[in-house]
Amino acid sequence: MADPKRGMRRNLTAYGDEEFSLFLRRAFIKAMGYTDEALERPIVGITNTFSGFNACHRTVPELIEAVKRGVMLAGGLPVEFPTITLHESFAYPTSMYLRNLMAMDAEEMIRAQPIDATVLIGGCDKTVPALLMGAASANVPAILMVTGPMLTGHHKGERLGACTDCRRYWARYRAAEIDDDEINDVNSKLAPTAGTCMVMGTASTMALCSEAMGMMLPGGAAIPAVLAERVRNAEATGARAVTLSKERLTPDRIMTPEAIENALRVLLAVGGSTNAIVHLTAIAGRLGFGIDLDAFDRMGQETPVLVDLKPTGQHYMEHLYEAGGLATILRELKPLLHGQALTVTGRTLEENLEETRVPDKQDVVRPRSDPIFREGGIAVLRGNLAPDGAIIKQAAATEKLMTHTGRAVVFESLEDLANRVDDEGLDVEADDVLVLKNAGPKGAPGMPEAGYIPIPRKLAQRGVKDMVRISDARMSGTAFGSIVLHVAPESAVGGPLALVRTGDRIRLDVPQRRLELLVDDAELATRRAHWQAPKRGAEDDRGYRKLFLDTVQQADRGCDFDFLAPKVTMRIPGTH
Ligand code: FES
Repeated sequence: MADPKRGMRRNLTAYGDEEFSLFLRRAFIKAMGYTDEALERPIVGITNTFSGFNACHRTVPELIEAVKRGVMLAGGLPVEFPTITLHESFAYPTSMYLRNLMAMDAEEMIRAQPIDATVLIGGCDKTVPALLMGAASANVPAILMVTGPMLTGHHKGERLGACTDCRRYWARYRAAEIDDDEINDVNSKLAPTAGTCMVMGTASTMALCSEAMGMMLPGGAAIPAVLAERVRNAEATGARAVTLSKERLTPDRIMTPEAIENALRVLLAVGGSTNAIVHLTAIAGRLGFGIDLDAFDRMGQETPVLVDLKPTGQHYMEHLYEAGGLATILRELKPLLHGQALTVTGRTLEENLEETRVPDKQDVVRPRSDPIFREGGIAVLRGNLAPDGAIIKQAAATEKLMTHTGRAVVFESLEDLANRVDDEGLDVEADDVLVLKNAGPKGAPGMPEAGYIPIPRKLAQRGVKDMVRISDARMSGTAFGSIVLHVAPESAVGGPLALVRTGDRIRLDVPQRRLELLVDDAELATRRAHWQAPKRGAEDDRGYRKLFLDTVQQADRGCDFDFLAPKVTMRIPGTH
């Protein structure tokens, strides 16, 4: 007798008569042209994250065809279904604002439909975390694949990569080093193929972390989007999904504390995007694990940056692929990893690694004895300005600014920043500290990637390339500079950042992990007594925006909604 919990019998619509529910379901699915024989197979759902607005997912239709082929070859029935998709440049006000919506969509659709295993097709920054958050909560067997990174473009004999070079060229344009014609020319070359940003931005970081976490087939993270190998990877992913459904290998057995620690280790070693710490916190949170930022910082002190990729290094993802991809990184990190963590292959991380080829010669992944940067890419800061923590991507910062005391020049909001940063009359000098308020999870809302505060034009034109910048915002993983991010609690909920005024002194001390507002406690108490929370507008009290503003948590809780993350049962990294 057929298993009542599998295939078409799974998750029946509630009519109060299960046999009738199944009868009705089969009647409608037959309208799709399926035979009874097809409908008896394990059903593999495939998330269709294609959208005409999402260039990073341009190849999804082709990948779905290959996944379907793999599923069929392995004896399953592939059924694609749409989910929300998110592209960084087509998500107002920010893609982070919508990440949790996509995670809810993925979770509920996986749960609602008769799916024995799911192939999650992510790529652009927020899609991978959203799909993994949803899959973790639904806890149906799932396997992730990504669309893969773009190939690089060229301009005047130089390689170009989205979006590190987007920012570099825009900064040159702002400083009047290049003209309108050249910036327009560069604009057409920055994203030359389908796929995700090919530097170590959030998409590349999350792809590598997900593979390290065991949710992707080995080698899957770095294959460029336009290679035939990417399509073969899709076919193999589809085939593996059928086996996952039979083995009932659920995400909670793969995304264990050990697996998430492996992902955190890789985040540090690749000099990855600061966004990934927020996303990994959110994914871990769905499984009841909280990220201990101080323990993560200690992990960083024993994990050097090994990968020589933009924005901290010189290469691009296509070079990491040629250098053996994640396996080459894992081989270097082996003594620091939990090799026994189970992966979607049904084998451990270490067993997978034993089957990979060692590249003959490569200069993209450095040995641990000769790293790019002696510590992990991200440092965690504490102090009276960030009681719940802040982070800095020290590997992408200016070394002499890592210990710096300066005068605060404060922008009260994104609007204030846009209005005044290029004002000739702005009172600002190169050794000042730029501070942006009200750009956190609730403040903007959606914690925009506004932490990369532009160098005021008059300073940029004098050749100033970097300044200490502090905010409760995020920063694109493709950006660089001495930028303190994710200050928690954020200013919109009354965090100390809300109390900073222009003229205050701020001390940043990355070696000591400190971020201090040098204003005495009595003065801060007076300011706090007069502080007023930003007023909510009419649009803040309906729909998804209300849900977001009412329930989004701070950066140190992954910006997930409070009702989606269960109680924390374990802090990681730790001893377990
Ligand atoms: Fe999609 Fe960069 S915009 S990965």
